[in-house]
Amino acid sequence: QKTLVPGNVHAGGEAGRSSRPAPSLSDSFRSTRALSLALAEHLSDADATIQSMEDASPAKWHLAHTSWFFETFLLRDHLPGYRLFDERFPFLFNSYYEAEGQRIARFSRGMLSRPALDECIAFRRAIDHAMESLLGREDCAPLIALGIAHEQQHQELLLTDIKHALFQNPLGPAMFDRLPDTPQHKGEGWIEHQGGIARIGQDCADTRFCFDCEGPRHRVLLEPFRLSRSLVSNREWAEFIADGGYRDPALWLSDGWAWVNREGVEAPLYWHGDDHFTLAGWQPRDPDAPATHISYYEADAFASWAGKRLPTEAEWEVAAADADPAGGQQMDRAETVQPAATPDLFGSCWQWTRSAYLPYPGFSPAEGAVGEYNGKFMSGQFVLKGASCATARGHSRPSYRNFFYPHQRWQFTGLRLAQDI
Ligand code: AVJ
Ligand code: FE
Repeated sequence: QKTLVPGNVHAGGEAGRSSRPAPSLSDSFRSTRALSLALAEHLSDADATIQSMEDASPAKWHLAHTSWFFETFLLRDHLPGYRLFDERFPFLFNSYYEAEGQRIARFSRGMLSRPALDECIAFRRAIDHAMESLLGREDCAPLIALGIAHEQQHQELLLTDIKHALFQNPLGPAMFDRLPDTPQHKGEGWIEHQGGIARIGQDCADTRFCFDCEGPRHRVLLEPFRLSRSLVSNREWAEFIADGGYRDPALWLSDGWAWVNREGVEAPLYWHGDDHFTLAGWQPRDPDAPATHISYYEADAFASWAGKRLPTEAEWEVAAADADPAGGQQMDRAETVQPAATPDLFGSCWQWTRSAYLPYPGFSPAEGAVGEYNGKFMSGQFVLKGASCATARGHSRPSYRNFFYPHQRWQFTGLRLAQDI
């Protein structure tokens, strides 16, 4: 059976690496849908309704938007006689698909006191129930796999968005009652590569799911380089601050220097004194943990200060060819997430690269409205590689291309240094 099965917590990783067999598409669908709900169980209706900034969305909006995705691209288009759960919902829960019509302004998502959280959950249950009759259909498998991967992306966004929302509250409320006690193991030294012609990207017509923007697979030319086996730590970041890193224009890109001054930035997002804000509220900062919630500009300035540079996307992907994409610290269940030091290339923090998020040679977006998923965002953003502590385990792979604007830092973003040799 050729179905595109996205990675999943129960898979334990890429086929061939794991001793356990890949789960069926139906099992992935059900466990992914259940995990989103389990995350939301830690939130009240009020928590799930607020929106802290235009970039972030309310938790219940994530629950409903992912359901709208299945309703629109699977049920409406592929289940004969299907009737919409609520004809008003597409206007509320269409994110950005021009081909799907008008929608509420992004910054107004936090004005939706209705539908309430329990109504959004009822919408989910209706979609889950209706989806049961499509799960076995071969012709629907690629779109179901896309819907599952999409929902996993929104699980990560739900966590980072609620963190940003709770941070706005002077009481510093916690979503989870404690931090995870993840053991820390720092990677040592460097991965060296001699350079030459390498191949990156993935052709998505294969048996394993990938997003359209990950292909076509193509050749790149690399010069010799090395990539650190560890992420930059909070201790190292504190040294950068103490050395006046945020006050020395010589270290900064021009756009970054303007951003630091405009925003009054003096430290990573969520830092205050020796503490930082986490999904378990305000906590003392662990100096050995990776520095996180940094912008591209900050990552670049730190690298300049350290006499190093950011890796390119191609360098990172080639260096990660033998790494386990389902290894490291990633999100397995509805518990707190917080980055810990790890020798793995994947997990803990997404890693900024200096590569622009642009189409690969020969790229064409997927057919239909879902062609708007990735391709239209290829302007002004940078690629991040790896995965974070909030990424659903099994979601990522070496060819995965996460992308954000260079000033954005509410994701679990971090820095792995590179150097020419
Ligand atoms: C890949 C995380 C930048 O946030 O818009 C969610 C993920 N795409 N729904 C985003 C996504 C469509 C995307 N990022
Ligand atoms: Fe989405």
